[in-house]
Amino acid sequence: METTPYFRPLDTFAIQGVVCNILSPFKISPPFLRRRGKYTGERLTEILKIAFIGGGNMGEAILSAVLDKHLATVQSVTVSDISPERRQYLEQEYNVTVTDDNRQAAADADIVVLAIKPQNLTEVMAELEDTLTPEQLVLSIIAGARLDTICQGLGHRAVVRAMPNTPAQIGRGMTVWTTTEDVSEWQKEWASSILGVMGHEIEVDSEDQIDMATAVSGSGPAYLFLFVEALVDAAIQLGLSLDMAQELVLTTVLGSSHLIEESDREPAELRRMVTSPGGTTAEALRELEQGNFADLLARAVRAAYERAKQLGS
Ligand SMILES: NC(=O)c1ccc[n+]([C@@H]2O[C@H](COP(=O)([O-])OP(=O)(O)OC[C@H]3O[C@@H](n4cnc5c(N)ncnc54)[C@H](OP(=O)(O)O)[C@@H]3O)[C@@H](O)[C@H]2O)c1
Repeated sequence: METTPYFRPLDTFAIQGVVCNILSPFKISPPFLRRRGKYTGERLTEILKIAFIGGGNMGEAILSAVLDKHLATVQSVTVSDISPERRQYLEQEYNVTVTDDNRQAAADADIVVLAIKPQNLTEVMAELEDTLTPEQLVLSIIAGARLDTICQGLGHRAVVRAMPNTPAQIGRGMTVWTTTEDVSEWQKEWASSILGVMGHEIEVDSEDQIDMATAVSGSGPAYLFLFVEALVDAAIQLGLSLDMAQELVLTTVLGSSHLIEESDREPAELRRMVTSPGGTTAEALRELEQGNFADLLARAVRAAYERAKQLGS
């Protein structure tokens, strides 16, 4: 498995992006964008042409981060969305080309990002079927859409399937991805770079691991949100005000998360360090153990995994 480095070096690619973005208000394309070379074998030396099919929450999150990190420029991005309001908003906010024509958007792109809802996938695949050339890369973030389904629906073989989670919308996401065999090493570099703008990314070698990740990191934010809700409710039941309960819980959750990240110690050790024998934490943890907290969570994650497999079959 490969993990994303925390920092990516500023390379030719990024510098070209900065130049493009400086020129963007004047709608001037720098020479290196007009004279588009291909991948040289070592590293990316061109600005990526990216087409977003669907410019909703996730499409915008990726678009915004991709521009921010200079992986693409306003001139090299096209967003296709069925909604006139979204198109108008995205054009005004990011100065990118917008269209309601999915085929036109995808026609000249290096990467076609599928960011529509699962229920719109069939119609979009029918529109794009047999229009893509073999060197174009399709990057789907659509939950539950399997590689086989996308390959067959599009008549295209180079496909990346990625599973981000909601914190990806603020650049703090966890994305797990896998590819068909026809995706080349340099296309994997593209995918890794694009998905890396949303936070951490890990490439895995099977769709079964995508289903597992769906149950852990995909659905994981909801488990944590439920935990926060329940702890706030418990604090209110003790007699604290809503404002105070929320502040105590949020600060504790955020502080503890940062402590796990920054400490050299394992979570179990950090837990033992706050648990004095006969103390208050020990009393609370005893209740949680009696209620089979860990077992309940394991069953919840298993149920999500089974559902992910079922939805994709
Ligand atoms: N949100 C997350 O955190 C998250 C996490 C993991 C995976 N995902 C996946 O990401 C995908 C996008 O989710 P989202 O939350 O960004 O959805 P969204 O906000 O609804 O965005 C989808 C956009 O696509 C537009 N659209 C619908 N049909 C279209 C068509 N035929 N051609 C072009 N555009 C079309 C929609 O317009 P209308 O609104 O007018 O229909 C909407 O603007 C989903 O498949 C989801 O499974 C999301």
